[in-house]
Amino acid sequence: MATINPNYDKLAAGYLFPEIAQRTQAFLDAHPGVGVMRLGIGNTTEALPKSVVAGLHEAVDAMAHVDTYRGYADGGEGEPEMREALAKRYAKYGVNLDVEEVFVSDGAKSDSANIQSIFGLDNVVAVQDPAYPVYVDSNVIAGRTGESVEGQYEGIVYMPCTEENGFFPDLPGDKVDLIYICSPNNPTGGVATKEQLKGFVDYAREHQAVIFFDAAYAGYISDPEFPRSIYEVEGAKSCAIELNSFSKDIGFTGVRLGWSVVPMELTVDRAGPGKVNGLWNRRQNTFFNGASNIVQLGALSVFTEIGERECQEMISYYMANAKLIRSTLEDIGLTVFGGQHAPYLWLKTPHGMSSWDFFEKLLSETHVVGTPGSGFGPSGEGFFRLSSFGHREDIEDAVESIRRNLKL
Ligand SMILES: Cc1ncc(COP(=O)(O)O)c(C=O)c1O
Repeated sequence: MATINPNYDKLAAGYLFPEIAQRTQAFLDAHPGVGVMRLGIGNTTEALPKSVVAGLHEAVDAMAHVDTYRGYADGGEGEPEMREALAKRYAKYGVNLDVEEVFVSDGAKSDSANIQSIFGLDNVVAVQDPAYPVYVDSNVIAGRTGESVEGQYEGIVYMPCTEENGFFPDLPGDKVDLIYICSPNNPTGGVATKEQLKGFVDYAREHQAVIFFDAAYAGYISDPEFPRSIYEVEGAKSCAIELNSFSKDIGFTGVRLGWSVVPMELTVDRAGPGKVNGLWNRRQNTFFNGASNIVQLGALSVFTEIGERECQEMISYYMANAKLIRSTLEDIGLTVFGGQHAPYLWLKTPHGMSSWDFFEKLLSETHVVGTPGSGFGPSGEGFFRLSSFGHREDIEDAVESIRRNLKL
């Protein structure tokens, strides 16, 4: 008799966005003729940059000719041109990478879910709390945790990110092996300094731990003082894997493209230089036949001067939305964090309300849908995430409604 993977039954979270959708629908059903404004999900809304569109067209055309047609790439690691372009981009941050250290994928979500699979089940996992849910859920499914008890899985070390520590965690008190860090952060909108990352790099080197550094929003950092890659921190290549994405920089949320960096220098217990890189290579080649070559070759235009400028314009557009949301919330007396180097605003719910109570209040009074912070982890309770992805007019309508209708 076939059996299922029982770890799926442990998944307690994962209901966040369906729950939001369900509650929103219930509100709409109860209020015919009323529309809602969605500042909940981190989905991009603006059209692709022109240079990227031209690149994609060119890549499609190349597939129409027998001389330029490409089938499977030699491996699942990515088209050589894209790997090279990505490796070169790191040089801008003073980081030297070999092409073999860069793996192209269909996005950072898959990579952040899959990366744990090349490490043993006996590793202790630490996550920022709150965190992008896939870090925890992938480890639950893999079997590294017990049950969820009061919002926390047994076996996971939660590193609280609170107002007191500026939404960047203290180093773990107990010894941990696999550490997920996201900067700029989803959901808190915080960004880590070099010193903060150095603390974790030093910890990882001392304990032979590995950091999974999710830099999906690195393009949103506007101050070069903040590191865009963990490899800007000395020693990080020996202990960190970086995950990144084209989703939020160039609007590839639906097109799909990302990459990971697994340095040759990275070593863990009984795995010397090159071993972990080789395992990820093996994993990708075994389970993945590569990201779309049309998408990879099309996206190469991002590395041209005009491509870079257009991407920057797109980021600036969303960040202007963030500024508008942040200033409105501050004007009406709410305490708000983030939105300066990340497209997310993290607001403190008024009068100590629970995140879900605030969800209902915001929806019923202003018709704006956001995301309850508690859905990202226990330390998210009492906070609420608003996303700055949206058309300017919609953002303007939403903030106007909040300004006029939210009763504080
Ligand atoms: C922190 C973080 N990492 C990764 C992703 C997923 O990126 P991708 O679209 O490349 O799968 C997201 C998407 O919202 C995210 O917020």
